This record gives sequence, C-alpha cells and structure tokens, in this order.
Amino acid sequence: MAMAPRHLLLPLLLLLLLLISPIPSHADISSGTSDGTEEWGYIDVRPGVHLFWWLYCKENVITSSNLPLIMWLQGGPGGSGVGFGNFKEVGPLTVDLKPRPSTWLNVGHMLFVDFPVGTGFSYVENSTLFVREKNQATKDLLVFLEKFFGSHKSLGEAPFFVIGESYGGRFATELAIALLKRSNADSLDINLKGIALGDSWTSPLDFLYSWPSLLQSFSLIDEAEARSLLRYADSARFEMENGNFTGATMIWSDMEEAVRKIADDVDFYNLLKHHQSAYELSANASGLARLAARHLSVTETTDLAELMNGPIREKLKIIPSNISWSQFSELAFGALSGDFMKDNIKQVDELLAAGVNITIYSGQLDLIACTTGTETWVRKLTWPDLTGFLSAKRSSLYCDNDRETAAFVKRHKNLSFFWIMNAGHRVPSDNPCMGLKMLELIVGNSGSGSRLLSER
Ligand SMILES: *[C@@H]1O[C@H](CO)[C@@H](O)[C@H](O)[C@H]1NC(C)=O
Ligand SMILES: *[C@@H]1O[C@H](CO)[C@@H](O)[C@H](O)[C@H]1NC(C)=O
Ligand SMILES: *[C@@H]1O[C@H](CO)[C@@H](O)[C@H](O)[C@H]1NC(C)=O
Ligand SMILES: *[C@@H]1O[C@H](CO)[C@@H](O)[C@H](O)[C@H]1NC(C)=O
Ligand SMILES: *[C@@H]1O[C@H](CO)[C@@H](O)[C@H](O)[C@H]1NC(C)=O
Ligand SMILES: *[C@@H]1O[C@H](CO)[C@@H](O)[C@H](O)[C@H]1NC(C)=O
Repeated sequence: MAMAPRHLLLPLLLLLLLLISPIPSHADISSGTSDGTEEWGYIDVRPGVHLFWWLYCKENVITSSNLPLIMWLQGGPGGSGVGFGNFKEVGPLTVDLKPRPSTWLNVGHMLFVDFPVGTGFSYVENSTLFVREKNQATKDLLVFLEKFFGSHKSLGEAPFFVIGESYGGRFATELAIALLKRSNADSLDINLKGIALGDSWTSPLDFLYSWPSLLQSFSLIDEAEARSLLRYADSARFEMENGNFTGATMIWSDMEEAVRKIADDVDFYNLLKHHQSAYELSANASGLARLAARHLSVTETTDLAELMNGPIREKLKIIPSNISWSQFSELAFGALSGDFMKDNIKQVDELLAAGVNITIYSGQLDLIACTTGTETWVRKLTWPDLTGFLSAKRSSLYCDNDRETAAFVKRHKNLSFFWIMNAGHRVPSDNPCMGLKMLELIVGNSGSGSRLLSER
C-alpha cells in the first residue's frame, strides 16, 4: 500500500479523530476567561446527566501552592450555587455585576456547582434521570469531584474545604463521608481539610421543637400559641417514630403555615422581618408544593434570573439553547421529600471520629435552622470530646474597628462553633464582614494573605 506523503498524515489523523470523537454535548466540556482566572463547564456524572460548575481562581494561574480550594454547596435542595451563592452571597461579583469586597475569593479559589442535577444550569436528558434518593445525589457529587480533580491535577494538593448552607450542610456531611470511604482514594488526591455546616438542616425535629420558645422570646407569639405549635412537633415526631417520614414532612409544612398565620408572616430566614415570602399558591396546593415554593422562591429572584439567563448565559457560551437557568426543579425537590425530616447527627459523629475538622455556624436571627435547635443537636453527639467542647469558653470576634460584637466562637479539638450576630439564615450576605473573617479562621494557616484577626 502506498504511504500518504508525510505532510498529509497529520491532517488525515486529525480528520479521523474528529470523525470518531463523541458529540460534544455528550462529553465533559469546559471553557473560561482568557486570563485563566475563571473556568466553567459541564461534567457528566452519569450518562445523560450534566452538572454545571464554575471555578474562580484567586490568582490567574492555578499553582500547586497551599492556597485553599473552597467548594460552596447551596441548600434547597434545588438552590443554585452558581447563581444564588455566587452572585448573592460569596462570589466576586454582585447581582449588579459590581465587585463584592467581602467575596470569599479573598481567601482561596472558589468552586460553585449546580447540584443536585436539575438545579440552575445543570440538566438531564431524560426526566427518569433526576435524583430520586439522597445516596444518588451524593454519588453524583463524588463522581463530579473525581472528574474535576482528575482534570485539575494541580488542585489536588490544595487544602479542600466544603461549605454547605442549609440543606447543603447535609450534602456536605454526606460528601465528606463518601470521600473518606471511596474505594480509589489512593489514585486521586483530594486533600479534604474540613467542612462547614452553615445554618445546616442537620436535625429538623430539633428545629421544629425550638421554634415555639424562640418565637415567644422574640414576642412573635404568646404562650398559648407556643403550646399549640408544640403539638405539631409532637405529631412530626410520632410519624417519624413510625417511619412515616413523608408524613412528617407534611406536618413540618403545616407547622410553618401555622407560624406564618399567627406570627404575621414572619420571615423564616430572619426573625426581624415580615412579609418577605413572595410566593402565591392556590389554597389547594399540596404541603410539598408549599414547602418548595417557600424555600426556593427566596433564591429565585427576578434580578437573578434575568442576570443568569441574560448576560451570564452569553458570557458562558456553552449552555445548551433549550436549558434555561432556574432554581426550581419540582422533581429534584420532591424526590427528596422522604428525606427532609431525617437527621444526620450520626454522620457528623462519624466525621469527628475520623478526624475531619468541622465548623458549625449559625446566624442568631435565623428561624428555620435556628441557633438553639443547632445547639440541641450538637448536644446529641456521641463524640468523646463533647463534654470538653460544651464546657470550653467562648471568645468574642469583632469586625475591623467596629466596637459591636460580630460573633462568638468556641473551638475545641476538631469542632468549632460560630454564633454570628446580626445575621439570619444566610450568614455571608447578612453579615459579610464576619462571614469572611470566619472563613479565614476556618482555613487557618492554609489561607495565605489572611488579615490579622481581632480575636479577644
Ligand atoms: C435539549 O435539546 C437536546 C438536543 O436537541 C435534547 O437532546 C435534550 O433532551 C433537550 N433537553 C431538554 C431539557 O429539553
Ligand atoms: C427516557 O427513559 C425511559 C427509560 O429508559 C425511556 O423509556 C424513554 O423513552 C426515555 N425518554 C426519552 C424522551 O428519551
Ligand atoms: C484541623 O484544623 C487544625 C487547626 O486549624 C489543624 O491544625 C489540623 O491540621 C486540621 N486537621 C485536618 C485533618 O485537616
Ligand atoms: C403519615 O403521616 C401523615 C401526616 O400525619 C398521615 O396523614 C398519614 O396517614 C400517615 N401515613 C401512615 C401510613 O401512617
Ligand atoms: C380547590 O379544591 C376544591 C375542592 O376540590 C375545588 O372546588 C376548588 O375549585 C379548588 N380551588 C382551586 C383554586 O383550585
Ligand atoms: C482531630 O481528630 C483526630 C481523630 O479523633 C485526633 O487524632 C486529632 O488529635 C484531633 N485534632 C485535634 C486538633 O484535636
């Protein structure tokens, strides 16, 4: 056979490669800014299941320095980290595309992911592929990280922190356990240094039981109303003891509805506010639809949707034309309804036993995952050092030259607890200065260029 001339071989090979390479929409794809400070893409975690991610680098080239990598997990489930967490809480730009001085990018590289699938820009090719149980969600996230670190080898040594807000705290806990247990742990470096649980939905029943006294102490309900609310918590506990977790979720929804009625539509994300919920539902909407609307409508604001489906989508270029950004995936939310009322205190215990650093933080004005409820589930830990933790002294933290206390912190062995002042459910947006300062303390020495902290 006659050989093709040498100068034709390479083009021929390239043509062949093009012909046999998979269709781009069915492979991991990525893009980024030309200066290398931002990168984004889709990672296929199962066939037909595409998770969208966005990485911001603190410096324009990722080096294998000890700059930490911080992954943000939004709650919901169904809130978009790429949208809400990024543009409304901790990313480099605000929703008006102005620089955010308190961005967590000050401390390390930031990784956002739209998770679970169906959230934000992430999508499935067939609705049968939505996550239907929590273990699948964790598996998806684990595959995502293995592929992400596989294609970002230089980040493998970076101290890795996972910060989960609200329901994202549960995902962070489950993910950390999956990372500890994964079978190919040796083949790929993922340097997990710690997780943070921010106003985390770790033990729902403890929150339901905490609401009445908290609401009463803020003058939002009276004693008789507090007593009537406690009955909902009792019913939820009864159903849970019978393994009826979906039923318990409905009771949670009914209890929220009762709180709204008697406390003049108090904001579940900030006790000092009222009439924040924009959702309108027919009187016949199911308990699940009400829950979804209440807890997802707050993260799907008009300004954010316009930004994501306008300028951001244009910038990213790789979003399929038939995928529009939205927070709300009823399937993704509904699929986890049997899981909402379960707790994962045991898993937190498991992580402490394994030596993973855990930070718990809580905004003092949060109602939904309130501080007193958080303290209640912490007391249920079986961690041998709990007694030492409970009796340790707290110290006060201040922001810059402000004389007002910005937080209290207690640290004992591998557990830290931050009580954040003047903040509700979303600590980094409610108290940006303290949110950033806390992150510096969480990453500790691994954060380079940290400012001196005024801890007393
Ligand atoms: C979008 O379009 C592609 C290609 O036409 C198709 O395979 C996919 O199922 C569509 N996705 C949705 C969510 O409609
Ligand atoms: C989705 O998957 C199911 C089960 O595999 C299949 O029966 C159905 O035809 C698929 N739908 C589409 C639109 O591909
Ligand atoms: C936990 O945090 C402490 C204090 O920052 C640090 O010295 C230690 O190395 C961390 N442990 C792990 C396993 O990352
Ligand atoms: C589960 O709980 C709901 C709400 O209380 C109740 O209506 C339903 O009957 C319960 N189901 C079972 C099987 O007990
Ligand atoms: C609610 O349900 C009732 C009884 O099933 C029905 O008569 C009514 O039209 C429904 N209302 C709405 C707004 O769907
Ligand atoms: C963190 O936990 C591990 C395992 O229990 C323990 O060996 C280690 O000493 C702890 N770290 C600190 C700072 O207490």
